[in-house]
Amino acid sequence: MAHALIVDDDADVVDWLQEVARMEGFTVSRAHSIRDARIELGRQHPDVLLTDLRLPDGEGIELVRELEKPDATEVIVVTGHATVDSAVAALRAGASDYLIKPADLERVQAVLRHAKKTSALQHEIGELRDALRKLGRFGRILGSSPKMQVLYDQLSRVAPTSATVLLIGESGTGKELAAQTLHELSRRREAAFLPLNCGAVAPQLIESELFGHERGSFTGADRQHKGFFERANGGTIFLDEITEMPMELQVKLLRVLETGAFTRVGGTQQISSDVRVLAATNRDPEKAVADGKLREDLYHRLNVFPIRLPLLRDRGTDIEQLAQYFLDDMNKVEGTGKSFSRDALARLYQHQWPGNVRELRNYVQRAYIMADDTIECEVAVPEPTAAPKSDDGTIITIRVGTPLEEVERRVTMATLVYCGHVKRKAAEILGVSLKTLYNRLEGYTGKEGDPEGLQCQPQESQS
Ligand SMILES: Nc1ncnc2c1ncn2[C@@H]1O[C@H](COP(=O)(O)OP(=O)(O)OP(=O)(O)O)[C@@H](O)[C@H]1O
Ligand SMILES: [Mg+2]
Repeated sequence: MAHALIVDDDADVVDWLQEVARMEGFTVSRAHSIRDARIELGRQHPDVLLTDLRLPDGEGIELVRELEKPDATEVIVVTGHATVDSAVAALRAGASDYLIKPADLERVQAVLRHAKKTSALQHEIGELRDALRKLGRFGRILGSSPKMQVLYDQLSRVAPTSATVLLIGESGTGKELAAQTLHELSRRREAAFLPLNCGAVAPQLIESELFGHERGSFTGADRQHKGFFERANGGTIFLDEITEMPMELQVKLLRVLETGAFTRVGGTQQISSDVRVLAATNRDPEKAVADGKLREDLYHRLNVFPIRLPLLRDRGTDIEQLAQYFLDDMNKVEGTGKSFSRDALARLYQHQWPGNVRELRNYVQRAYIMADDTIECEVAVPEPTAAPKSDDGTIITIRVGTPLEEVERRVTMATLVYCGHVKRKAAEILGVSLKTLYNRLEGYTGKEGDPEGLQCQPQESQS
């Protein structure tokens, strides 16, 4: 049962708070001065400390420094002197909330419920951290390398808060898994976790996906539609590939993050929603800002708590642990007992793993299928060419919904690069006359230097 310590020199206030705390399922101890409170703190560690600011022998907030496990106690300041300054000072000193006397019943109940959940979560996260030490994992995330310990520490700190988190990391490093873990370790876990891949949805549909639309707001909108922000109320939205979100929508997203309110496409009614936003990118966000792919103001807003996911090749023996885990999983599902040979395990360290954990998982699955009982080197070691890469310039990625004119421009430019800028050859491959190619290139003037047109992006990674 959660325990509350109530400290106030006014016995009536203590009586009342005690009654409410008991109703909310707390056991309670009480004190009327700092001195009494110290004695109580020595007896039992409280999950919640409700303290008056001014006490006969000092300031209630001083007690924060005396808590044995400050992370495991929610401190709520109760004050009759409702100045913004004192409340802010209390929050800075470690209080998580404050009540102004006379506090109304609902507010006290809400604060206590919130504190109870947070303290239960802190407890759970503490246990998870201990489990990590023994098992080398954090929730469903595996790995015990030093880089992962840093990650677990960051995740456990930010999970129970409502902070926006920006997950940065290359493909397959576990950004989505980290986002799910943050949701599962937050008090939002009973509500929805809705992922939206901004790179996979046609740009003109993202707005209605996020904010919904009213009937008749555009061709094909034959009924009202509730967007992610409405459906995830109380929960979490995961905006994957945030740099692929159209710029004008980034402005709208920023506004929602600041105000918590939005309107459906084609609507006028303001709708409020309590949603936590987690975002991810596999680009360098600062470069994305410089390249005009990510608005600087949105970046700063998302970057409240950035978390970088480590590359698999920088994670030492995690490679082996993960490979073993994926194999055990296959064995369990199939009822088999296949194993890696020592050489096969050793060879895992020689590969660069550009596709990170996803690539490793895919290889283990393939090796499992190919092997009889023991997975030998030949099967386990990935072909160097098997990485999902295309730097020979033969592949470009074009998002669904890209205007045909743009598709034509990009294919033309990429072909030109592929042919080493030999226009005759490019025209031949493209099946147009040399004159047509010249005309097109003239039309692209000004855009010709655009790196986007020239860039040959890697193939979609397979999952
Ligand atoms: N540390 C880990 N422990 C266990 N499984 C992991 C870990 N990291 C990633 N995975 C698994 O690897 C796969 C890829 O992870 P995930 O989809 O989270 O990567 P991502 O960073 O979002 O990749 P992308 O940028 O390509 O979308 C998933 O199956 C995930 O469960
Ligand atoms: Mg992902």
